[in-house]
Amino acid sequence: MAEIILKNITKEYENGFQAVKNINLEIKDNEFVILVGPSGCGKSTTLRMIAGLEDISDGDLLIDGEKVNDVAPQHRDIAMVFQNYALYPHMTVYQNIAYSLKLKKVPKNEIDERVKSVAKSLGLEELLDRRPGQLSGGQKQRVAMGRAIIRQPKAFLMDEPLSNLDAKLRGQMRVEIADLYQRLNTTFIYVTHDQTEAMTLGTKIVVMKDGEIQQIDNPTNLFNYPVNKFVAGFIGTPTMNFFDSECFEENGKVYLKTANGKIELTEEKANKVKEGNWIGKKVIAGIRPEHVMLSDAEHCAFEGEVNVFELLGSNAIVYIDTPDGRIVMNTPHVKRHEHGEKIYLSVLEEKLHIFDPETERVITN
Ligand SMILES: Nc1ncnc2c1ncn2[C@@H]1O[C@H](COP(=O)(O)OP(=O)(O)O)[C@@H](O)[C@H]1O
Ligand SMILES: [Mg+2]
Repeated sequence: MAEIILKNITKEYENGFQAVKNINLEIKDNEFVILVGPSGCGKSTTLRMIAGLEDISDGDLLIDGEKVNDVAPQHRDIAMVFQNYALYPHMTVYQNIAYSLKLKKVPKNEIDERVKSVAKSLGLEELLDRRPGQLSGGQKQRVAMGRAIIRQPKAFLMDEPLSNLDAKLRGQMRVEIADLYQRLNTTFIYVTHDQTEAMTLGTKIVVMKDGEIQQIDNPTNLFNYPVNKFVAGFIGTPTMNFFDSECFEENGKVYLKTANGKIELTEEKANKVKEGNWIGKKVIAGIRPEHVMLSDAEHCAFEGEVNVFELLGSNAIVYIDTPDGRIVMNTPHVKRHEHGEKIYLSVLEEKLHIFDPETERVITN
């Protein structure tokens, strides 16, 4: 049980580089929070500051209301699981899991009981005599989690725990972690660079870029209402299509201009565009591949040529080159489109996103 609050936290490394810039984050007791963002955006630095493995340059870190900036890691009662597992190679699985209790001089029979209970809950009972070198990646990951769980910490911090596993195992371990969270009912902070992992695992997702928090939200809102172009492009696969455009008004209706056509805005979006004085101005528009569909010459927003057609089973991804740039369509219609084929596209107007080209902040979602 732990409530963790980051207040204006900044990390400046000795070389003067600011890896984390003035971030604010409240993590409630028993909450599962995911930090996600591209490599180098400051996720590990943030986690390491919470664990006490890295000094905080500026700001306050509160655990259960107490400022812990200067509290040593072992006194924060937080367990961290690392990407590379960090197991002791010369110890057996049993000894690895038991180690922290041994250091605390917990009686042997109690250690034994707790190791066996943790091993059981993680399916490690048969492996207790093995050394890490004799384990698969998934098994090592489970041992690393067992080592964290046995301490019964106030909070678990996990730094890309699944990134060394193959795709299938990753999916499986993802479910196990979700299940573990349900059973332990403790605060979890989970770091990943993989937006799919974040979107499937978390209910509260913190999107970071260049040491700054971009948006904190649930998966549905991140997908539907990104606050800026970065979040819009980072969340979702294939990634959102962006194209340069201009807003214009005609007979009381508001449109986005494209090279070969136009897109009529819904009333709600039109109002936002008008309120912000965007009529006659350049904007960046965004539409997700799943909201692009086939059209005809008369009604299309884009006309272009098929470059690549990818069949994914129940749907197909089509890459189309248009004068507005590359447009990707994710379609349930798996009719094959040949390379070079001429194609007309329209978009689901209510799913259009419009961004300020200067600040890249959203004008309307
Ligand atoms: N000890 C260090 N000294 C200087 N810069 C560092 C140090 N550790 C990390 N960085 C830089 O800080 C930034 C954030 O790193 P990190 O928190 O590891 O990112 P992430 O975990 O999101 O990939 C990166 O640009 C990284 O190169
Ligand atoms: Mg990292």
